[in-house]
Amino acid sequence: MQVLFQRHQPIPPQHPLARFPTLPVLGSMGDARSASAPRSRFLADDAVYTASGKTATWLALRLAGVGADSSVIVPAYHCPTMIHPILALGARPLLVPVAADLRVSLAAVENIADAAVRAVLLPHFFGFLQPEIEAIKAWCTRRGAILIEDCAHAFYGAEGGSVLPGATGDFAIASTRKFFAASEGGALVANGQRLALDLPRPSLTDELRGAYRMLAESLRYGALGLPSTRRYRLTAVAPVGPGSPEDALREAGCAPARDDEIRGAGDARHCLRSTALLIRHAPHARIAAIRQQRFRRWQEALAGLPSVEPFITDLRGCGVPYAFPVRLTRPEVHFPALKYAGVALWRWDQLAVSDDPVSRRLAVELIQLPCQHSTSDTEFERLVLQCRRALQASSPA
Ligand SMILES: Cc1ncc(COP(=O)(O)O)c(C=O)c1O
Repeated sequence: MQVLFQRHQPIPPQHPLARFPTLPVLGSMGDARSASAPRSRFLADDAVYTASGKTATWLALRLAGVGADSSVIVPAYHCPTMIHPILALGARPLLVPVAADLRVSLAAVENIADAAVRAVLLPHFFGFLQPEIEAIKAWCTRRGAILIEDCAHAFYGAEGGSVLPGATGDFAIASTRKFFAASEGGALVANGQRLALDLPRPSLTDELRGAYRMLAESLRYGALGLPSTRRYRLTAVAPVGPGSPEDALREAGCAPARDDEIRGAGDARHCLRSTALLIRHAPHARIAAIRQQRFRRWQEALAGLPSVEPFITDLRGCGVPYAFPVRLTRPEVHFPALKYAGVALWRWDQLAVSDDPVSRRLAVELIQLPCQHSTSDTEFERLVLQCRRALQASSPA
């Protein structure tokens, strides 16, 4: 079936490349330490490592029996890579509205009256557990549907937390590329059954290509102690016009997902050997400590700026954050300012079309600032200051 994706605000043209990597790269790391390693469902022996989170989702959906006559419940606020695997199986995504804090409620799920619902795909956004997961799991069991936990942002669990991300759903997926410096990577686990998958292994060419990409990415950001191979434009903030949110929306367009994006979701294989080694032998305790420290640093550095509103201010309920989410008060002005300043960030401004006003608003307002642990504390601090400066410069005095 065809699903249209709407871009809610155009990407500012010709903005410079970010100087800080949004995902981890091989090389230096920040300085924080912790004695205890966080728990992870995806480090258990039964975890299957795949080439990406998207292909892990496709596998989970297929194991759940999702096919051309099925529907899959998924939040109206999402990364398009959550929708592609559903489309790759010919199924129908049913978009549920989210609350202003991005929680998916049982009431919203129950409200979907569709007998063909075969699975619910529930993401723990930015690493924060969905509070109603147990109730949604019970609903799935009653309905004969399968719960797939999307732990792309929640590889680790909270210390002493009673619910481990990935341990409640019938299946759970992770996007390991977001937590480890490999050039690719996802993971799949099943709870209450053993996974019996016959996946192709990567070829030697795949392995070599992956190793090359991993090194090249690190060199681009100068993370191996060598001069960066990337040319930067530093913190010049481009003049921003008076534009209104309505102007920005008028320019925004709708388009279906590209065929290769949809087909790529079904291209499942085992991950590279180098990726599996990096995941298993990563310094998990240190990664957790640095990410938590960087999350708190964002909180402190952006507090009180009129251009942002806090979104999540407490690390409770989160083991190890994927990113620091914050809302822009005037996205039509602040977002281009950040992009022209070369600030590394993500924003999910392209969503499958829905009538959920919260998701549409968050598509432009909510940005995700990197908390990832690689590169030095000096580089991270430069990013924080660059971001603060761009936000201050784009706010009225
Ligand atoms: C919530 C969520 N789920 C799934 C994915 C897909 O993961 P991958 O990029 O490894 O395919 C992403 C990727 O950004 C994501 O943010």
